[in-house]
Amino acid sequence: GLKIATIGGGSSYTPELVEGFIKRYDELPIRELWLVDIEAGKEKMEIVGNLAKRMIEKAGLPIDVHLTLDRRAALKDADFVTTQFRVGLLEARAKDERIPLKYGVLGQETNGPGGLFKGLRTIPVILDICKDIEELCPNAWLINFTNPAGMVTEAVLRYSNIKKVVGLCNVPIGIEMGIAKLLDVDHSRIRIDFAGLNHMVYGLDVYVDGVSVKDEVIEKLTDPANSSFVKNIEGIGWEPEFIKALGVLTCPYHMYYYKTRQMLEKDMKNADGEGTRAEVVQKLEKELFELYKDPNLAIKPPQLEKRGGAYYSDAAVRLITSIYTDKRDIQPVNTINNGAIASIPADSAVEVSCVITKDGPKPISMGDLPVPVRGLVQQIKSFERIGAEAAVTGDYNTAVLAMTINPLSPSDTIAKQIVDEMLEAHKEHLPQF
Ligand code: NAD
Ligand code: G6P
Ligand code: MN
Repeated sequence: GLKIATIGGGSSYTPELVEGFIKRYDELPIRELWLVDIEAGKEKMEIVGNLAKRMIEKAGLPIDVHLTLDRRAALKDADFVTTQFRVGLLEARAKDERIPLKYGVLGQETNGPGGLFKGLRTIPVILDICKDIEELCPNAWLINFTNPAGMVTEAVLRYSNIKKVVGLCNVPIGIEMGIAKLLDVDHSRIRIDFAGLNHMVYGLDVYVDGVSVKDEVIEKLTDPANSSFVKNIEGIGWEPEFIKALGVLTCPYHMYYYKTRQMLEKDMKNADGEGTRAEVVQKLEKELFELYKDPNLAIKPPQLEKRGGAYYSDAAVRLITSIYTDKRDIQPVNTINNGAIASIPADSAVEVSCVITKDGPKPISMGDLPVPVRGLVQQIKSFERIGAEAAVTGDYNTAVLAMTINPLSPSDTIAKQIVDEMLEAHKEHLPQF
């Protein structure tokens, strides 16, 4: 049987993951699931861990769930390590989202200015985890879900000795599901050629039963109701002229880059009203953990669907299953490019449709990215690389550089002001600076 170690086990997403393991148990015989957290997340882990135990007991499966603060014990001889931790918890995310807004800049906690600081906090921790993996479970696959997943995967590829790493996001599968629904066909009949970076991924083409339906789908994306496929981003629609000329499918995060002004106005309005997304999620999380405490609850409650991570379990468990069984199906994941996307360095992380084998994801060759999208993707890749470098070196100038080259930054001076305020606000989680 398999041993899985999940770091950040106290996440409210854990029931999602456990549901996935239960559903695919026939193909993926897990014997041990170790949830790991830190002192600050101990109570959350106990609540959600006990729910996980009840779910597994209800399903009648022989999976032992261990709850621990001892990461090394959890990693010892693990077959798969999944990471879903958040350094500084949601309180830190609220700062990532709010501080840039004070300067009239979008926070965007993954690929935006806020994401830089999430990366600066996260990368030292993931590199530490990589060292433990090298020592305690050198054959394990690391499946990273922690954002900014693109920058984090880039950092693992560049600054650790771990080669068996895959970055995972629920956005591509969310788009597939959303388009299947729009076209009223079963998800299994849809295939999208994904290429780009995490939260900066495009669908170069989309097929139903092998026949391209791209133009029809792009037409549908102009309807605001169809323009986002995740709960955390409200779709505000695309100009038909723009999206048709672009000629590829966008992901919801593209709205921050191609509709910057409107997204900023919306985020500022929310910040003065119901709160930033982090603050909304803090309330949601409280409600979820109240539900999770109920000793009679033994399923993933439907309220979890209000979080942005829908289909996380499908994405994670189908990936692990395909590696374990050498299934060779196609899944979009973050992996080393190796030339699949000509416009991105071969040794960089990309998000791309891959054949999933026992030796990991094999990216499908996509050639060059179309001219209209190439520049933005390259710019975000540079941001991820410089951000990862700043995280590893703790160099102030490099942090200012990363913030300035982010496409959401309006100037070097404002970027520096944001960096200064955020370094101070997050200093307990940034020992390298
Ligand atoms: P959360 O705030 O609940 O954090 C999860 C847990 O991580 C907490 O219990 C916390 O105590 C723990 N933690 C913090 N530092 C840790 C450390 N050093 N070691 C071990 N555990 C630690 O977060 P959440 O909202 O559940 O999200 C979890 C993570 O998943 C975030 O990083 C988020 O960005 C990411 N996420 C990714 C996707 C994706 O598409 N890739 C989707 C949803 C969420
Ligand atoms: C999306 C993204 C994730 C992101 C999440 C936020 O699904 O793929 O990378 O972390 O939404 O959701 P939340 O509910 O935390 O705002
Ligand atoms: Mn994501």
